[in-house]
Amino acid sequence: MQLKILLLFLYGLHSTQNSKMTPEITKILMELNAKYATELNVFINFQEYYMDFQLLISPAIQLQTTTKKFRRFRLHDNFSHNALIIIAIRVPPLDPEVAYHLPYLLKELHELHIVFITDQDPQSWQQDLFRYCFQEGFINTLLIHQSNRDVFFYSYIPYPEMHIQKLSKLEEYFTRWQLLCNFHHYPVRTIANTNEPRKIQYVNRKGQLVHAGYIYNIFLEFTRRHNATLTLLPEIENDGAFPIAMAMLNNKEFDFVCYPTELTWNLPSTSPLYLLKDYIILPHSRPIASYLYFRKPFAWTVWLAVVATVAYGMIMLYACCGSARSEIGLYLLNSLCHVLYISQSRISVLNWQQLTIHIIMILTGFILTNSYLAMLSSMLTSGLFEPQLNTLEDLKHSPYPLLIDDYYIDYLKEAVSLPAEVKNRMCLDTVDGLNKARIGLNSSFMYVAYEDRMEGILYQQHLLKVPRFKKIPESLMTGLMAFPVAPSLPYLSMLNVYLRRIFECGIFAKMMSDSWMNAIESGIYKLMRSEGVEQKPYDLEFFYYAFALWAIGLTLAGLAFIFEMFIK
Ligand SMILES: *[C@@H]1O[C@H](CO)[C@@H](O)[C@H](O)[C@H]1NC(C)=O
Ligand SMILES: *[C@@H]1O[C@H](CO)[C@@H](O)[C@H](O)[C@H]1NC(C)=O
Ligand SMILES: *[C@@H]1O[C@H](CO)[C@@H](O)[C@H](O)[C@H]1NC(C)=O
Repeated sequence: MQLKILLLFLYGLHSTQNSKMTPEITKILMELNAKYATELNVFINFQEYYMDFQLLISPAIQLQTTTKKFRRFRLHDNFSHNALIIIAIRVPPLDPEVAYHLPYLLKELHELHIVFITDQDPQSWQQDLFRYCFQEGFINTLLIHQSNRDVFFYSYIPYPEMHIQKLSKLEEYFTRWQLLCNFHHYPVRTIANTNEPRKIQYVNRKGQLVHAGYIYNIFLEFTRRHNATLTLLPEIENDGAFPIAMAMLNNKEFDFVCYPTELTWNLPSTSPLYLLKDYIILPHSRPIASYLYFRKPFAWTVWLAVVATVAYGMIMLYACCGSARSEIGLYLLNSLCHVLYISQSRISVLNWQQLTIHIIMILTGFILTNSYLAMLSSMLTSGLFEPQLNTLEDLKHSPYPLLIDDYYIDYLKEAVSLPAEVKNRMCLDTVDGLNKARIGLNSSFMYVAYEDRMEGILYQQHLLKVPRFKKIPESLMTGLMAFPVAPSLPYLSMLNVYLRRIFECGIFAKMMSDSWMNAIESGIYKLMRSEGVEQKPYDLEFFYYAFALWAIGLTLAGLAFIFEMFIK
């Protein structure tokens, strides 16, 4: 009797571990391995003698829920992106230990293929299993039910609501992803907060509320492609809106935020498209006084050369006239007239040396006056400005304070690349105050902003001949062009593929530049126009130099006249 019970018990053990199902399951796993180019098989909850691991070409590891190691185990780094997770269900729908630790084990890898294996009929509990899977973002799930020699496959489609899919053969699982691409109006949620030009809202001329902004439009297009619905949660009206939004995102209360990722956030996000630089903009340097234009065409060395030429002409003419020397002043006037390229009444040429010098002087005068005039007119056309500040180091000479909000102040105080003079002159404002001044390009301050935002703000001045603000081309810090998303988002890889494609095709950049136009339509941005004529070079001020020279000349002439009068 005892022996019988023992035999029965042994038979029972044998039947639950069911060594006969090994060849079929192994064959299925081999097929899955081949299809998904698996680099690592992770077996969870299997008895050691259960699987014939040797048959699988790719390496395998065994995890037992009973061991302490299991609780600290997490897949990451090498080989983990192509792993296949195989879980034996001992207690349907799923062993509590496994259910508890699986999300940690597969942190940020929730889209790996997971195979559940059971030998009990899953009809009554598989709904619970799949609901758990979807909640944790395990979207690629295959349930294998083995009874005797038959194998049944199940999976699930979560959209628009959870339903079980009974697959007649394994190949159907391979094509299942096509069904996952249609969301059947499943909601993709975000928050309605405004953050131009990434997400804006305004009432258009027809009185309709319009949502726009480039990140918003990117996600809107994603939902259109996948037949999903973009749902906007009400705005968080609070000073601490930012931490609240982040906590909500972490709780999966919505799916993404319309904001690029900052490196310090440590949130799950889409894969980065590029590094997003952060720049300082400062008011464009002021135009120089227009009377200064007179001396600008020539550098001081050229002016010295002009004086030297006049002196040369005078001395050489004087030296060449031999015995018939007359006044040196006459030769000075001759030389000056040549250099200024103006006519003179009569030139008496005494010999061939003088003729040569006159020809040299005429040529020199021709070249000098023409190059002067050409330079002057090109400068009048383009305008001349005080020296530009081009590096962060130069900013210490800038008279403007840097306007910031309290979110960035700590970071900027620590920034090594920013000169101490700028740090001491930082000026703190509220977020709204800062936004108002920055969007209005109030030229009393310098501002700092991420590239995407800054380009939108600077777009306002693209009609101006002389811009109001200028960007320092050195970046101050770096963010990522990636968007924070809720943890274990089931369609994250789909989103990544979509983002990479629109980025590579240039649609991303187009959406960004379109958002500037939207911001202008909404009245958040304004196209700036210059008031009146920007450059008035020929005003009275322009002739100050000429007047001064004329006055000096007249005075000198008067003095010389008086002097000579007294000598005679
Ligand atoms: C991953 O692979 C790289 C290159 O093959 C190697 O340098 C690195 O040490 C590996 N990381 C781990 C955690 O094994
Ligand atoms: C989008 O989802 C709805 C709701 O399930 C469905 O009726 C419609 O056919 C779907 N559209 C496409 C193009 O698949
Ligand atoms: C720019 O900001 C300063 C200081 O806040 C303010 O006094 C000035 O009125 C602003 N200028 C414009 C054009 O808004």
